[in-house]
Order: sequence, then C-alpha cells, then structure tokens
Amino acid sequence: MNNDTPLRDLLTQRISRQGRITFADFMAACLYEPGLGYYTSPGRKVGAEGDFYTSISVHAAFGRVIAREVAQMWRCLGCPDTFTLIECGAGNGRLACDIVDYLAEREAILYGNLQLVLVEKEPTLESAQQEMLAAHTGRVSWLSPEEFASGRFTFSGCLYSNELIDALPVHRVLMSADGLQEIYVTMKDGEFREETGPLSTPAITEYLDRVAVELHPGQQAEINLAAPIWLAEASCALQQGFILTIDYGFPAVELFAPHRQRGTLLCYHRHQIEENPYIRLGKQDITAHVDFTTLMQRGEELGLQSTWFGEQYRFLLSAGIVDEIEEIEQSDASDEHKLKLRLALKKLILPEGGMGDTFKVLIQSKGIESVKLLCQRRIGG
Ligand SMILES: C[S@@+](CC[C@H](N)C(=O)[O-])C[C@H]1O[C@@H](n2cnc3c(N)ncnc32)[C@H](O)[C@@H]1O
Repeated sequence: MNNDTPLRDLLTQRISRQGRITFADFMAACLYEPGLGYYTSPGRKVGAEGDFYTSISVHAAFGRVIAREVAQMWRCLGCPDTFTLIECGAGNGRLACDIVDYLAEREAILYGNLQLVLVEKEPTLESAQQEMLAAHTGRVSWLSPEEFASGRFTFSGCLYSNELIDALPVHRVLMSADGLQEIYVTMKDGEFREETGPLSTPAITEYLDRVAVELHPGQQAEINLAAPIWLAEASCALQQGFILTIDYGFPAVELFAPHRQRGTLLCYHRHQIEENPYIRLGKQDITAHVDFTTLMQRGEELGLQSTWFGEQYRFLLSAGIVDEIEEIEQSDASDEHKLKLRLALKKLILPEGGMGDTFKVLIQSKGIESVKLLCQRRIGG
C-alpha cells in the first residue's frame, strides 16, 4: 500500500509548522483538501465501481418515494406556484434526477413550478450533474456551500440531503482518568500518531452537556460540531417548508452508549471497511454516525419542528415504496429487472444486514400550520 501521497506531505508540513492538529482538521484535509481530498479529487466514489453504496445507487425507487413525499410537502404548503427543491451534498446528481424524473412524470403542476438547486462542495461534479439532469435543464441551478451559508440566499420548499452529515469532519474525544480529553493527530518518526490533550474548544463540552451525555471511562466518541452549524445555515435560508435528512446514525443516548467504547469512526475503500484513518490518505472515505438528537434539539432552538424521525424502512414503507414496486412488477419490465428490484428492495428496507435500520430519516418543518406527510401514515394503514 502506497501511503506516500501529496496529501501526506502537505499534512506532515502542516503539523511540523503548527504542531498537532485536531482530528477534525485531519479529516477535513483527507476528505476536502482541494484537488487532494477524497471528495475533492477525481474518481468514482459511490456505486459498484466506487468505495461504498448509498441508498441512491441501490435503486431509483428510493428517489421516487422521496419525490412522492416532496409532492406532499408542496401540498402542505398550499401548492404554491414557486417551490424550491434543494439538495445539499448532491454528488453526481443521481438522486436529484430520480426525484425530478418522477415529478415530471406524475406531478405536472408541481414540476412546472419547480426550481431545483444543487449544493455540492466539489465544484467539478457540476458537469456530471448537468449531464445527469440534461432532461431538466432550465429547472436546475447551482449554489456553492459558501453562497448557501452566506445568509443572503433564502427559499421556500424542501431541502434534502442523503449522507451529507456523516461526511462532515468530526472531533474525537476520550474519557480519560483526568476527564474528557481530545484526540489530536501528530507525527513521530515519520508516522501519524494520536495523542490526547485538553479540548481544543469548549463547544465540545457544551455539545455533550446539551444532549446530557457523560462518556464512560475509556470511552471514545466523535463530536460533529459542523452538523449543528450546517443546520443553522439551512434553517436561516429556509423561510417556509421542510428539511429532510437521511443518514445513518442514532439518537444521542444510543450513539454515545457505553457499548460503543471506540465510537463509530469508519473508513471505506472499495467496499471494504477499514478502521485505520491514517492510511490511503485522500483515497478512502472517512465517516462517523450521525447524532440525530443534536439535529432535533438544535433545530427546535432554530424554529424547526421535528415533524418525523424514524428508520429509513419505516419512511419508505409508509411513503409508498410498495406502490412503486407494484407498478414496476406490473409493468412490462424484464424479469431480470424485476429480480434486481426485489434484491434492491431487500437492501433498502431489511433491518438485518440491509440499510433499513441504521439509516434514519428526519423531517423538520418551519412555518406550516398543518403538516400531513405520507410518512406519518400507519404502515399498511
Ligand atoms: C457521502 S457523499 C454523498 C453523496 C450523495 N448524496 C449520495 O448519497 O450518493 C457526501 C457529499 O457531500 C458533499 N459535501 C460535503 N460537505 C458539503 C457541504 N457543506 N455542502 C454541500 N456538499 C457537501 C461531498 O463533497 C460529497 O459529495
């Protein structure tokens, strides 16, 4: 394995110049250093030829069910004649395409009133997104994360993301005999090493206090300070409507439970899980599970109601995945296509070994009197 990447040189120089860095700074460089980070360098990340699957790469039915819910959100807003749909962390545009294809096919009035805005940290993905969404040119525009967060951009409609929050850089902490310590990254004898020290910011203790979590002796955890900041930016931009967040994670009490002694940090390379973040710098994904309690609590402080929170399989089942499947089953699609669909479905909704259980959906709303979403229906009811 060749670890001798330009990113390694850059981090080595940075550490020798300024001393140890937080794990959040290390992770930010590994994922987003311009031209060198995992997400900011060329190469296929998601899908069979990439490093990991997301629900989007499994089947278009995932996006089509989200589209059904988006149409319902538009109805909750009183069918306005301008509805903005924003995807943050849009990747190659696949999910946006599945959603907008459905709306064009089934929701002509909404489609006629739709503005799709893509926000993606990696600007070179714009050409892939343009190609993917070629059938919808004229409805699509782009915003950089900086423009999105500037406070100048406002919208009414729905902002959604899939696996954005788990890709934000996290601080790492350890409950030592001397109290809560931060895990820093330093260099010794030409190798990256971890060492603990006082917290780099009081925001970490404030974060844990807010969710009423005290780590157990010897326990490690990740603290995603970027997540509530992102939510505050999103909430500031949202005038009226919804924020729909899909990601893997748990409520804080479960995420920081003592049995997760080593936290949830994981790396992905070619569909293999790797625990060591100090190899394949910029060539492997690094993620941590999402703390949904913080998103809900912070959201409520920001005027966002926690409208629905639950497992992805519940969301998909109550929002209409069975109807999607029945339609494909009854269509003249090939037997091979139908078999693929059944396998995809298993992956999307089965709790054990599938994506249905660890993956969660959170829907927050602002400025709407009566919210009646599809996912609020009883499954099978
Ligand atoms: C794990 S990938 C998920 C991509 C896609 N949503 C999917 O599910 O296949 C996370 C994406 O979020 C992007 N990203 C990270 N921080 C961002 C931010 N602040 N604003 C917009 N995009 C961001 C990354 O560049 C990357 O493309």
